[in-house]
Amino acid sequence: MPRNIAVTSALPYANGPIHMGHLVEYIQTDIFVRFQKLCGNRCLYFCADDTHGTAIMISAKTEGITPEQLIERVHNDHHKDLAAFHIEFDNFYSTHSPENKELSELIFSRLNEKGSIAKRTIAQTYCDNCKMFLPDRYIRGECPRCHAPDQYGDSCEACSGTHSPTELLNPKCAHCGNTPIRKQSEHYFFKLADYEKPLKKLIDAGHTHKSVANKLDEWFSTGLKDWDISRDGPYFGFKIPGEDDKYFYVWLDAPIGYMASAKNYCDKHNLNFEDVWNGDDWQIYHFIGKDIMYFHALFWPAMLMGSGFKTANNLFVHGFLTVNGEKMSKSRGTFIKAATYLNHLDPEFLRYYYASKLTAAVEDIDLSVDDFISKTNSDLVGKFANLASRSGPMLCKYLDSKLGTLDEQGRLLIDELIAAKQQILNDYEGLNYSSAIRTITALADSANRYVEQNQPWTTIKNDLDTTRTTLTAVINAVRILSIYLKPVLPAFAEKIEKFLNISPQCFADIDKVLENHTINKFARLFERIDKDKVQAMIDESKDTQAAPAPQQTNIEPLAPECTIEDFMKVDLRIAKVLDAKPVEGADKLLELKLDIGCCTKTVFAGIAKAYKPEDLVGKIVVCVANLKPRKMKFGLSEGMILAAGQGDADIFMLTTDSGPSPGQRVK
Ligand code: 2FM
Ligand code: ZN
Repeated sequence: MPRNIAVTSALPYANGPIHMGHLVEYIQTDIFVRFQKLCGNRCLYFCADDTHGTAIMISAKTEGITPEQLIERVHNDHHKDLAAFHIEFDNFYSTHSPENKELSELIFSRLNEKGSIAKRTIAQTYCDNCKMFLPDRYIRGECPRCHAPDQYGDSCEACSGTHSPTELLNPKCAHCGNTPIRKQSEHYFFKLADYEKPLKKLIDAGHTHKSVANKLDEWFSTGLKDWDISRDGPYFGFKIPGEDDKYFYVWLDAPIGYMASAKNYCDKHNLNFEDVWNGDDWQIYHFIGKDIMYFHALFWPAMLMGSGFKTANNLFVHGFLTVNGEKMSKSRGTFIKAATYLNHLDPEFLRYYYASKLTAAVEDIDLSVDDFISKTNSDLVGKFANLASRSGPMLCKYLDSKLGTLDEQGRLLIDELIAAKQQILNDYEGLNYSSAIRTITALADSANRYVEQNQPWTTIKNDLDTTRTTLTAVINAVRILSIYLKPVLPAFAEKIEKFLNISPQCFADIDKVLENHTINKFARLFERIDKDKVQAMIDESKDTQAAPAPQQTNIEPLAPECTIEDFMKVDLRIAKVLDAKPVEGADKLLELKLDIGCCTKTVFAGIAKAYKPEDLVGKIVVCVANLKPRKMKFGLSEGMILAAGQGDADIFMLTTDSGPSPGQRVK
């Protein structure tokens, strides 16, 4: 009996472009969905843009457009980029939709009726200038622990500590620079702790991977907390029924967006939404990244339980993407947007590479550029495409494009390929794509060995029948391999189908044999990657980063004006770095000893991810020399050096190897 399966990927925020990190999940999910479809199951893939929240409201304001205009533009971009990577949604919708509004209100009212919603007045950080409550990421100030300046309201990038916005010293509104105040407001809370027992039962029943369950155990042991599900206006989202200026928090309506996307699809395709989303005949699988486990393994199932909906059958969690072993970085050009990749490389190269790395474990996957190039060239070009190009053109040119029949040796090869079917299917079903790829490449090796042994380029000179028999086996091997690879390489499989003059293949076709059949003209399948193309992509990623979105990075609006007199109070001096060393316990800080002419100063600077201490010694930098010394956990910081950037490796100092002598004033 074919299964009915509804699958979702996490909804991308509508305030930034799709990048290579996002693509891990969309490619992982798309492979699963295509696999299910090729097995003959009914499988629907739902997604949407995640459109609400303060960040989107502010991005739109900064651009001088409405949030609706912004999310529409981003929706088109997202859809286009994802489609180019062959991500085939059944519905790619939006959380800013009537279905989502209706379902959010329904779920909220059911939770309310059940007594799962509490109302409480709380004090929060408010900017009286912007007239809005500030999310933690919109408050900047000095870290209460290490005193690093310019840190977010919830965590410090210098010492990696977490704190609450009230603990931040000298807090400022990141939008306008004003000092915020504390203001009281009534909020709605979802009483998550009421669901502890059924949540534990769900997790124990195998709702998600063991390693995720272990992480959840930690959260259970520290106790589940009430969850604030409302936000005061101005806010871009759905108004809470009965309220004038309160909205559902974006994370409340975001997962409901999965359902809304399904509902929108069902209504258009004559399917009953209740059957699909809440019936026993359908299985629901969510794919997410490990950063949003709390929302999906606790809040979301609890919301569903409390509102009379069934929970998903499985929650699949993947790790993060690193590039060359490091976090994606704009300065290194490894923060690569989907659109930039597409300017240089074939999307199937990335699908194949990710597939060759993905397992069911919640592990980070690394894209090593050299490995990416070599795997693409050796497997896609050297093993799969090569097999087709060694057989197709010869058959067309010398043998009327006609296959013959398999002999015993050919049959043995084909039987070997067919015998691997169940193992490959199990690997796809179990999300062990890397194992599936290993098996498939080993089969391609067998087929290439068969070609070497039978030397069709020699036999073609005097034995056409033998050559036809050999090439018939090779063509059958190409066909089977392309079906095995079809979930990963749909465009490649389609080209093979066209070349072999056969209808779209599925897994049931693996066991068939193509004999006495006329094929079409061979067209090239893959071009080798040369390193220059990858370098060009990296260079383009360095040069053309779009204006970063506030939730991911932080371009701050201009601070309030200061007068020239104010400015002249800041004594900027040329300084020479005499010594630079790491700070134990603060992996982002360097301790610098600066010669500023009149004296030396010690400065703790958050630049350790961007500069090696030994590279700084002897450099000329600019120092704020009259800054009031600040006592930090690690010692006294007696100044600041001038630098700009997004943080981490993305920090650039004003520096030269030689220049004005230390102590001169910068004017
Ligand atoms: O983390 C994110 O990118 C969120 N936009 C994911 C939302 S997934 C679902 F809950 F909507
Ligand atoms: Zn403000």
